[in-house]
Amino acid sequence: MKLSSANINVMVKACRRAAKVLIRDFGEIENLQVSLKGPGDFVTASDKRVEKILIEELQKARPDYSILSEEIGEINNDKSFRWIIDPIDGTANFLHGIPHFAISIGLEKNKEIICGIIYDPIKDEMFVAEKGNGSYLNNQRIRVSSRSKLKDCIIFTGGPKQKSKDRELALTEYKKFSTKTLIPIRKMGSAALDLAYIAAGRCDGFWQRNLNYWDIAAGIIIIKEAGGFVTDFSGGDKYIENKTILATNSRINKEMIEVLN
Ligand code: IPD
Ligand code: CA
Ligand code: CA
Repeated sequence: MKLSSANINVMVKACRRAAKVLIRDFGEIENLQVSLKGPGDFVTASDKRVEKILIEELQKARPDYSILSEEIGEINNDKSFRWIIDPIDGTANFLHGIPHFAISIGLEKNKEIICGIIYDPIKDEMFVAEKGNGSYLNNQRIRVSSRSKLKDCIIFTGGPKQKSKDRELALTEYKKFSTKTLIPIRKMGSAALDLAYIAAGRCDGFWQRNLNYWDIAAGIIIIKEAGGFVTDFSGGDKYIENKTILATNSRINKEMIEVLN
């Protein structure tokens, strides 16, 4: 079975076209690791190239929709529909030649996310969801894990990079979480894929401060449609405004909140 509504088809097509460039550029990165200048500028250019293709494709199919995209910011058109784009999530991995990054696109209708796609071009894994129609990985239905005790779980997190109060808080949370639970905590480097992996049952929970809307827009619906929970750190629904996201399977949400608070 597969998801094939008109909007999903538009998103899939855009991702596939942009991914060709992303894969080609990733090949080039390996050569640049050993150059004195390093791949920094090339990565910035690649980010922009990928964003341009995504926007071109999405605008070709839906000229009226508004856009919020990490590199170029806002394009204001239609008030009800808006694409939320992160052209490369996991840039640090991409820069270092680590094959773990993704394109992420969410679609909002009247401020509610109704479709999402997260595409890992290197592993050719495409996570998609549409409101009311479930979540899929390469056309197979996915569900969150059923682990009910935190002690049996694996958890992902990430951290603000810049020196800031939030970074200090994140480090304290990490230490507290690790000391209290003693379970494996991973920092994989792509928040979008962290969320997609929860939806696919590979990981059981994720928390992070200070993420931007484009990091999580697609992941939110992919988790919800896979039966998982998305809340802020205290179980409320202000995770976008407060920039504190906690995403879990349907069973460990309460225990994660207890440990984090
Ligand atoms: C970053 C990744 C990373 C997260 C950072 C984000 P970028 O996005 O999602 O996992 O820890 O907070 O900024 O910069 O690679 O698009
Ligand atoms: Ca990002
Ligand atoms: Ca990015």
